[in-house]
Formats: sequence, structure tokens, C-alpha cells
Amino acid sequence: MPVLVVNVDHVATLRQQRMGKEPEPVTAAHLAELAGARGIIVHLREDRRHIQDRDVEMIAATLNTRMHLEMAGTPEMREIALRINPHIVCLVPEKREELTTEGGLVVGGREKELAAYLAPIHARGIRSSLFIEADPAQIRAARNVGSEYVELHTGHFADAATQDEMRRERDKIVRGVELARTLGLKVNLGHGLNYTNIYEFKNVSGISEYSIGHSIVSRAVLTGMEKAVAQMAAIIATFSE
Ligand code: PXP
Repeated sequence: MPVLVVNVDHVATLRQQRMGKEPEPVTAAHLAELAGARGIIVHLREDRRHIQDRDVEMIAATLNTRMHLEMAGTPEMREIALRINPHIVCLVPEKREELTTEGGLVVGGREKELAAYLAPIHARGIRSSLFIEADPAQIRAARNVGSEYVELHTGHFADAATQDEMRRERDKIVRGVELARTLGLKVNLGHGLNYTNIYEFKNVSGISEYSIGHSIVSRAVLTGMEKAVAQMAAIIATFSE
């Protein structure tokens, strides 16, 4: 059965707006676990725009499920991964000017380089995943890197402008899942999945994990709004005029 892993990056995005202490991603991570998330994802970006090193450390030290560390394949990030020992390292491409991860990692032609980069991570017993497009060439290349998982990029599917385009992107992903499974890879899906478009994968077998962040944090802000306002109104209602 597929499971949900929750990305808490955007809890940190909100906190970094004020550079303060709330909301803390580690608290969100624990609440997500209590609600049924089977793992927590953090993307420690090189520019530290949302998740900070201390978030990764606190989440790694206190999680009861599994931490997935999303990261660019840089020497600095590998050092951090080897210190933190996440359950899975997921390699993603990273550009400073992007709003979020825009495309999949190019693996074709870089198999040896990526295998060498991941060797110390695998030697430590940390699993790895490669975030790639649902492109047969990339999936075949990923198999040759020696990662246990691939995460297929669902962003183009989520951003499709028409129903036809969405269906085409979905079908590409489904074929990607089938190919990856045939090659012996475990498959996760992620990026842009929300409470509506997730249904498109309801009858697709072979998916291990759904990696979802933005839509869950967005919904949490809205579903929590009434309660948060009521709590503040109740405090102010006790004041004298
Ligand atoms: N998977 C990867 C590799 C990502 O980079 C992201 C975004 O950080 C996600 C999944 C989650 O995407 P979203 O926040 O759109 O749900």
C-alpha cells in the first residue's frame, strides 16, 4: 500500500519571513506524524531559504518515523547527510533563481559520477532516491546508478493547462512507474500533488510513497484559521476597554 510522506519546507518558509521561531518545522513534523504521515521530508537548499541546518538536526533527532533529506549533490550536502543519517537521501537538481524544484535530475550520462557521489552514503546504509522526469532514458540511467528508489516528477502533470495535457502527463508517469518497477526500482511520486489531482493515481499500482508538501501546508493554514482567530479573539475579549 502506498504511504504519505510530508514535506514541511513551507512551514519554514513562513517562519523565515520573520526570521523568528514560529512556526517550527519540527513541531509540524511531529503533528504530521501523529496524523498518519509515514515520513517527513526536508529539503536543505544550498541558499537555506527555508529549512535551516538546525531544523534538519532537530527533526532527525526526534522523529519517530523516517526522515527523507532532499538535497543537491554537492560535497557540503553529502557531509551533512553522513552526519545526520537520514533514512533516504533524495538527490534533486537545484537552481538558486527557481521558486521550487523545476525539473528532474539529469542522470543519463552521469551514472558513474552519481554512483561515486552516492557510494559513501550507501556504505553508511542510507538509501537513495533520484528525483527524475518520467522519461524512459532517465529511468534506465537511474537503475544504473544503484539507487533503490526513483521519485518521478509530477510537476508537469500538476501544472497542465488542459485536461488533455494532464491526461498525457499522467499516462507518461504511469508508464514510467511500470518501467521503473520492471527494472527493479521502487517508485515515489512528488511535486504539485494536491487534494484534487491525487485521485488520478488512485488505481495505479507500484507506487511506494507520495511526497507532498505545499498543498498540505496551504490547507493547514486555511483549516487552522478559524481556530487561530477564535483563540486570539477570546484573549482580547478578556481585556477591559
Ligand atoms: N518532491 C521533490 C523532489 C520536491 O523537490 C518537492 C518540493 O520541495 C516535493 C516532492 C513536494 O512538492 P510539493 O511541495 O509541490 O508538494
